[in-house]
Amino acid sequence: MTDSVSATARPRAAVILAAGQGTRMKSPTPKVLHKVAGRTLMDLAIDAAEGLGCERIVVVVGAHSPQVGEHARKRLGPNATVVQDPPLGTGHAVLAAKDALADFDGDVVVTFADCPLTTAPVIMPLFDLMASGTDVAVLGFEAANPTGYGRLVLAPGQVLLRIVEEKDADLVTKQVKHCNSGVLAADCATLFSLLADVGNDNAKGEYYLTDVVGLAHERKLSTRAAFAPEASVQGVNSQAELAAAEAVWQGARRRSLMVEGVTMPAPDTVHLSWDTQVAGGAVVEQFVVFGPGVSVETGAVIKAFSHLEGAVVGEGALIGPYARLRPGAEIGPEAHIGNFVEVKKVKVGKGAKANHLSYLGDGSVGEKANIGAGTIFCNYDGFEKFETHVGKGAFIGSNSALVAPVRVGDGAMTGSGSVITKDVEDGALALSRAEQTTKAGWATKFRALKQAKKDAKK
Ligand code: UD1
Ligand code: MG
Repeated sequence: MTDSVSATARPRAAVILAAGQGTRMKSPTPKVLHKVAGRTLMDLAIDAAEGLGCERIVVVVGAHSPQVGEHARKRLGPNATVVQDPPLGTGHAVLAAKDALADFDGDVVVTFADCPLTTAPVIMPLFDLMASGTDVAVLGFEAANPTGYGRLVLAPGQVLLRIVEEKDADLVTKQVKHCNSGVLAADCATLFSLLADVGNDNAKGEYYLTDVVGLAHERKLSTRAAFAPEASVQGVNSQAELAAAEAVWQGARRRSLMVEGVTMPAPDTVHLSWDTQVAGGAVVEQFVVFGPGVSVETGAVIKAFSHLEGAVVGEGALIGPYARLRPGAEIGPEAHIGNFVEVKKVKVGKGAKANHLSYLGDGSVGEKANIGAGTIFCNYDGFEKFETHVGKGAFIGSNSALVAPVRVGDGAMTGSGSVITKDVEDGALALSRAEQTTKAGWATKFRALKQAKKDAKK
């Protein structure tokens, strides 16, 4: 992603605007803490800035949602945020970052935190323009419906004369389909010098960042636009737009996995996370959900209706259908985790099998061990968690309860229905259940008696 960050590039910084209220989300969660692909919009905006090679990142937050600032500082450090209070427009928001960048000498890119699809490669052309002598570079797009957007007033050669906001546009300007995405780049000193001249004498009474373009043009600076596909610069303002951004993201990532050789018979039903890794040669069947932190190696098959998060699936392993892998599940090569089996924080060895209806939580399963149907690792006493370790080649009889902490040795067996509370040594058989008694003819007599009673009542 950072391949165009050459060694000779000037230092880069990003100012990420996140002071808007996001009221149209109608949610107690601030807009930019909503997620696409399991990652907050805020983090996706920071990823883009990092992907561009920005060595300084300043996030402009509002006073209304302290969680946004906390979230950004947790990732970027204590000085990464500035507060804009009250919010008086995008130009005013960037000015809030002026002191934070006072000692910065380089290029600054301004982005919006609510544009989850505006990734580093989408923005990169602005730095290419800067490298070829542009002073103020703006990322534009051609809008299917330009209503609401700032319009780019262009001269031949993508020279940008000014940006006119919708509310300030006359009828002719409103016909323009070239719109402002909101992303803008300029040399740091130039940007703040231009912003110093921006006023608020406009339809909204706001300090528009977009006014720096016209001012730059008047100062005979070079102002140009680069263009991105509309879908890549869409902002999120409502729950429906969040879902639409998710759909675009999912579609793109599924296609890229298929290009890398992942087989997906019904890609539209597979849900991926921002960091899902699936190697070429793996198969992902219908309706599989990947939460964050999953990697799947080649030859593995994730069968339909499985749910995975925080898990590693080794080469050639078979998962599902209907399996649940939770954080810390490490499934070894050629292992089988079958239907209605839940695995959490357990390392499953090469070729081991747990094919039916089990809970394996906290511990390990050795190579080639066989976990019978209905086995439960009883890992929790209501206060603490304990570990269960099953040795190599061990055979756990169906419906065994292994009460942790406990170890079943290599090659050992447990009888079906056993409750195992003590360690089982290598090669031993452990049984803990009442011995069977059989009463010959009892069932036949019982039925005859009951039937006679029923017949007598008729
Ligand atoms: C802005 C652009 C417009 C562009 C459009 C693209 C300006 C003046 N207009 O308009 O040209 O077509 O985005 O979506 O820049 N924000 C702050 N502080 C503020 C105001 C806004 O941090 O005082 C942040 C918001 O959180 C948001 C971003 O800036 O992330 C854009 O603000 P918004 O109000 O959506 O701008 P638009 O009017 O849509
Ligand atoms: Mg907007």
